[in-house]
Amino acid sequence: MSLLLSGGDLKTRPGRFGILLGTLAMAHMLVALAWSLVVVSAANAASMRPVGAEKGMVVTAQHLATEVGVDILKSGGNAIDAAVAVAYALAVVYPAAGNLGGGGFMTIRFADGRTTFLDFREKAPRAASRDMYLSKDGKVIKSLSTIGWLAVGVPGTVSGLEYAREKYGTMARAALIEPAIALAEDGYTLDQGDVDMLASATEDLRRFPETTDIFLNKGEPFVAGQRLMQPDLAETLHLIRKEGAAGFYRGKTASAIVKASREGGGLIDQDDLERYRTREFAPIECDYRGYHVISAPPPSSGGVAICEMLNILEGYPLPELGFGSAQALHYEIEAMRHAFADRYSLLGDPDFTSNPVQRLIDKSYAAKIRDVIKPDRAELSSDIRLGVAPHEGSNTTHFSIIDDAGNAVSMTYTLNDWFGAKVVASGTGVLMNDEMDDFTPNPDSANIYGFARGNPNAIVSGKTPLSSMSPTIVTKDGKPVLVLGSPGGARIVTAVLQTILNVVDYGMNIQEAVDAPRIHNQWLPEETKIERYALSPDTRKILESMGHRFEDSTPANHIAAILVGAPSLGGKAIGRNRFYGANDPRGGTGLAQGH
Ligand code: GLY
Repeated sequence: MSLLLSGGDLKTRPGRFGILLGTLAMAHMLVALAWSLVVVSAANAASMRPVGAEKGMVVTAQHLATEVGVDILKSGGNAIDAAVAVAYALAVVYPAAGNLGGGGFMTIRFADGRTTFLDFREKAPRAASRDMYLSKDGKVIKSLSTIGWLAVGVPGTVSGLEYAREKYGTMARAALIEPAIALAEDGYTLDQGDVDMLASATEDLRRFPETTDIFLNKGEPFVAGQRLMQPDLAETLHLIRKEGAAGFYRGKTASAIVKASREGGGLIDQDDLERYRTREFAPIECDYRGYHVISAPPPSSGGVAICEMLNILEGYPLPELGFGSAQALHYEIEAMRHAFADRYSLLGDPDFTSNPVQRLIDKSYAAKIRDVIKPDRAELSSDIRLGVAPHEGSNTTHFSIIDDAGNAVSMTYTLNDWFGAKVVASGTGVLMNDEMDDFTPNPDSANIYGFARGNPNAIVSGKTPLSSMSPTIVTKDGKPVLVLGSPGGARIVTAVLQTILNVVDYGMNIQEAVDAPRIHNQWLPEETKIERYALSPDTRKILESMGHRFEDSTPANHIAAILVGAPSLGGKAIGRNRFYGANDPRGGTGLAQGH
């Protein structure tokens, strides 16, 4: 990786040299002392107990998919087998984000300590071009990249699942895909959570007759207790079962996608589909207070941003400051602000841009950032002079799996927005993504900050858009400790960060860590988004007096996490249970279950 020193060099960040280290240390001590009265202890939050199990654990956003994964583990499959079966099942029972027509990432840590990362995220069709979503006067026509066929990137999920199964799985394709076929063919009963998810997109789903036919009940929203049948999707899954990836990228399904795309004004052709290949990369790895973090490399920004933030925060006494203390939150927000400025400005598809990864995750870079973080004053995001403002979709799904041997899979995949571009090629039952919206559609806007390097996330034919998906695994002393990830676009990165902090620094058990209210700052806008109860009124006042600004946010993430060994780090195992799963209560349909 190159060590780029132009765009993201801290030289562009004003004020770095104005602060003397000694002054900073003194100020830090005084501030910590002054605020020690509002430090909140983390222990014993009011959460359900984590779900314990002895031989394996699966946490997904939909209970039926979790059951599929547990069945595969019980029948002797490894974590990769279970992940493939879960992903096929989620394409049926969690159609908002589970998918065949999208893409994603899989981080694997094998029981013998090896790690790898599979990238099966979408690519821009060959005919795609830099300004394809701009009007004649250079303005972004937003709907073109979010709904309908022009928004669709070349899907990677089926390629990725078959690649994972062939290379790292142990079971036959039929066994892994059969549960999904049954759920599509026989249907499944919709719970309130499933119905709420469908209802969130009723009007957009109505815009396309093929989509309406599947996801609305004779044109009206489904209600809980009704059954969702998907015979076309079952047929597509049958073809994959028979022919593997070729059953999707060639033949009947591919022809239907190409035809619908052409008729709908999209760009995907047969060649795009046949050329699609999963890529395998080394994950991003870094250390935090004795723990080893394994996460997503570019084309995700997730691992880089998480490591950058952890490196910054390692220099502050978070455990002493305490969960929810104004001082700890100040440092967390500032770390987020800096990491996101880099994330949005410097990273892109590694086949098209040279990402300054090593520099961004270097401890000395974090130390330089700490030098400019004032202990008692929020920095203005607009003073961190880098790149282009954030732009990305936010709806995705994540699941975490660990098997008896200790193989761990952390997988996040997506259609981008809920139900993607809302289009389905007739006869396939496959919802297609709107991942093209994750490119920066107006790369010239970067120049408002004098950013000279060219935008690394501009649309280029065959390129993969930058992602925030951060499937992550944490180890200690060579053993897996934590498997986690989340949906939520940019908020994925900060949700994963805070869950790690909650476990490592604040001593929470895994369910408490997942449940705890979260904050999110992504450099631009200035405001930090806060979930309800994330800040007490007096903590908020302290932070506002330091220059922080806040706005409310609705819960956007559904963390799926597993802690290994005990419900909390350093805790005691319960009976023979080795694995402790936590399903995020923010989602209405998920389940942690083991065996
Ligand atoms: N589409 C959301 C992400 O990739 O981060």
